[in-house]
Amino acid sequence: MFSLSATASLLCALVPAGASETSPRERVSINAGWRFQMGDPEGASAGLMYDVRPDVKESADGKVADAKPEEAEQLHKQAQPVLKPWILPTGNAFIKDPARRFERPPGNPGSDVAYVRSRFDDSRWEKVTLPHDWAIRGPFLTTGPYGGMGRLPSWGIGWYRKKLDIPASDAGKSIFLDIDGAMSYTTVWLNGTLIGGWPYGYNSWRVDLTPHIVPGGVNQLAIRLDNPPESARWYPGGGLYRNVWLTKTHAVHIAQWGTHITTPEVSASSATIELGVTIDNPSDRASTVEVATDVYALDAEGRRERNVVARFASARTSIPANASSTVRGSAKLDKPRLWGPPPEQQPNRYAAITTMSLDGKVIDRYETRFGIRSLRFDPDKGIFVNGRHVPLRGVNNHHDLGSLGAAFNERAAERQLEMLIEMGANAIRMAHNPPAPELLELTDRFGLLVVDEVFDSWERKKTPLDFHLIFKDWHEQDLRSMLRRDRNHPSIILWSVGNEVGEQYTGDEGAAIAKRLSDIVREESPDRPSTAAMNWAKPQMPLPAAIDVISLNYQGEGIRQAPEFEGTDRIRTPPQYPAFHAKFPDKSIVSSETASALSSRGTYLFPVSKEISAPVREGRGGDSANGHVSAYELHAVDFGSTADKVFASLDGHPFVAGEFVWTGWDYLGEPTPYYTARSSYSGIIDLAGFRKDRFYLYQARWRPDLPMAHILPHWSWPERVGQVTPVHVFSSGDEAELFINGKSQGRKKRAPFEYRFRWDDTIYEPGEVKVATYRNGKAWATAATKTASAPAGLDLVADRARLRADGLDLSFITVRIVDGNGVTAPRANNRIKFRIDGPGEIVATDNGDPTSFESFQSTERAAFNGLCLVIVRGQPGKAGKVTLRAESSSLQGDAITLQTVRD
Ligand code: GAL
Repeated sequence: MFSLSATASLLCALVPAGASETSPRERVSINAGWRFQMGDPEGASAGLMYDVRPDVKESADGKVADAKPEEAEQLHKQAQPVLKPWILPTGNAFIKDPARRFERPPGNPGSDVAYVRSRFDDSRWEKVTLPHDWAIRGPFLTTGPYGGMGRLPSWGIGWYRKKLDIPASDAGKSIFLDIDGAMSYTTVWLNGTLIGGWPYGYNSWRVDLTPHIVPGGVNQLAIRLDNPPESARWYPGGGLYRNVWLTKTHAVHIAQWGTHITTPEVSASSATIELGVTIDNPSDRASTVEVATDVYALDAEGRRERNVVARFASARTSIPANASSTVRGSAKLDKPRLWGPPPEQQPNRYAAITTMSLDGKVIDRYETRFGIRSLRFDPDKGIFVNGRHVPLRGVNNHHDLGSLGAAFNERAAERQLEMLIEMGANAIRMAHNPPAPELLELTDRFGLLVVDEVFDSWERKKTPLDFHLIFKDWHEQDLRSMLRRDRNHPSIILWSVGNEVGEQYTGDEGAAIAKRLSDIVREESPDRPSTAAMNWAKPQMPLPAAIDVISLNYQGEGIRQAPEFEGTDRIRTPPQYPAFHAKFPDKSIVSSETASALSSRGTYLFPVSKEISAPVREGRGGDSANGHVSAYELHAVDFGSTADKVFASLDGHPFVAGEFVWTGWDYLGEPTPYYTARSSYSGIIDLAGFRKDRFYLYQARWRPDLPMAHILPHWSWPERVGQVTPVHVFSSGDEAELFINGKSQGRKKRAPFEYRFRWDDTIYEPGEVKVATYRNGKAWATAATKTASAPAGLDLVADRARLRADGLDLSFITVRIVDGNGVTAPRANNRIKFRIDGPGEIVATDNGDPTSFESFQSTERAAFNGLCLVIVRGQPGKAGKVTLRAESSSLQGDAITLQTVRD
């Protein structure tokens, strides 16, 4: 046990303990130089299965999202050997009870398969760089029951091979392969020996290569993934789709995710920081080490400032042979710079640098980034960060990055968050799985509040081959590994152990699982509550009693309450906020999924519904022939509600901590209501990153002090002259006057519980629509939209004209089809061809149309409602000017020049 106490003032300009010495720890990216191939060698598959799987007789694709999950099929073991006994030991570090850990059986399965051998010639395999999603290149499966999983071929077997360059000087070190995410059922061989693996595709995990690696020799990695069909309700992607690392350490080292920081006492004047450091000693000799930790402030870019601001005193500890032990200490910091969500607070961060020495020599140095903040869940008032109330203005997000697929890219993720922040979002729910670790680094940096969620199913199944197959064997390892990886992130405020699981329906049995998972949360991260999102469980049922915070999906507003749903066998529930609040006066309530409102960007269908929230039906918001939903933003899934209805419900129940909209961005798969399409309709932002009208409805509410006004629809309707064409306005003002060609259409005041201005009887005539808005009687914001004439040209705008020449950084270029006056032609769908010159490449193109089956890699694409997107990256190491040219037969072309720069 070590203790400490020192304050910032005393520690200014101290040099960290052991700073001058380097530690043996290295974290080497091994994303480059892989060979890849789909499929097993002939006849090999039978011996390489993780476990027996049920036969899939019927597709579950397109099953309504709120369908009741079913009981798992009972599997009868076949005689055929499976790899599971060799894979399970990989998770041992995350099984608390030593008696339940797994022993590796004798034998070396797979060693007879050509692909695992060092001498196998893979030179004909495809060269790939990670992160790599094998499915995003398609082709789209344009027919058949594949819409739910995004119509891209994510399922199948894939092999990756790479030679590791391990110098002779690495002898004696521990060497780990760290995989941030592999989709899925992954098995790793090194030099022909099966090392281990991990089935769940979203978790980060490691295998220890040390016993089989040959420093100075040839080291051949072979990795097999076996991604099942019918395994997800959305697009999972396939392959080594996140970063992969080699971690090298001294034999005695700080464990994987081996530090745990909490800040139990926080005020403006001081903070207590508690730190646990877990040390692994896999050697046959006990070791006595010295552990010390210095704390530094980080600047906004995450760079360490010079001065030590707090220090944990050095502690000596002895770790027995082949064992681990944890040392704990506590430090005090004066005048901490607190972490909190902007704009009221700032996301300040710190880094704890832990140095471990053996016989006076540094043997490990480990950085832990963290933030200091207090968090309070008040059941009557909501969430308080550092004593300030923060209403949750959140969105749900899936892990894919649109046309880039599941392959993680930091800039693409950053762009997603930047646009959400521009809208006023302050929170993200990771639906329904742990994200890439870098995404949490971004949420920490931006000050977004996060619900980190681990599973979409427990023992009961949603799709035939989803996680339920391995829940029993792996829930503890998967949950503990997520918690240990993520618990130092200040952005995480809640741990969600499940989403709409079938165990809501199984009474005490389901609640027992919820309790077991919540207990694991309490053991690993007691400073944040557990939750599980419920779309069916009611206050009197056992499940909500087993979790700390009540998360409701759609139940707050009520589900299928319209008379047209009478007699349905689907969930039909009156609004639930008051009932949960009354039953659980000590638990906070969060609306973990609201809305599930649907629209196709820029597509307006007539007649326009008079209701503020209605399901999509043919001729009522829906056009099944073209696969589009009206962008008047008045329609939702049958069990959901539009933004307007959700806002009214939240305003009526101020004890609710806030909401997470389903979803911030469109995502691949789950194209409700048209499963013939490839991607969802529920995003506030479309798949390409273009704002739907709804963006401004949220911005008006979430950034009330931003003077803004937004008009819909566009005003280019030659066929509607003389017809009723409603105009709606989203604004943070409280009063608005609309003008068509200068003629007032009336001034309206927003009534309580109203969130849009609507003129439903306006008659279309070409020209200009203008709105002047007011707040408290004073001019606030204006907006205008003009009729476009015929499409005449293209206009290119890049989100960033300068980018790093590292093969990772991206520029997102918006292509607009414009008329002769530069007005966007809002219905133009012209085909555009792209060409690039200089040291750059086109990575992907898209147009945000959920029904488009054009390849994401195509350098030619039709615009959708006037817009198209091109994603460009610089070639690694080649700085220079990159010019993107866009051409379309009858239109005036355009070009844009970007500069790529070396770091
Ligand atoms: C919810 C579910 C989400 C998504 C959404 C679609 O019930 O939790 O994962 O399926 O519906 O509307």
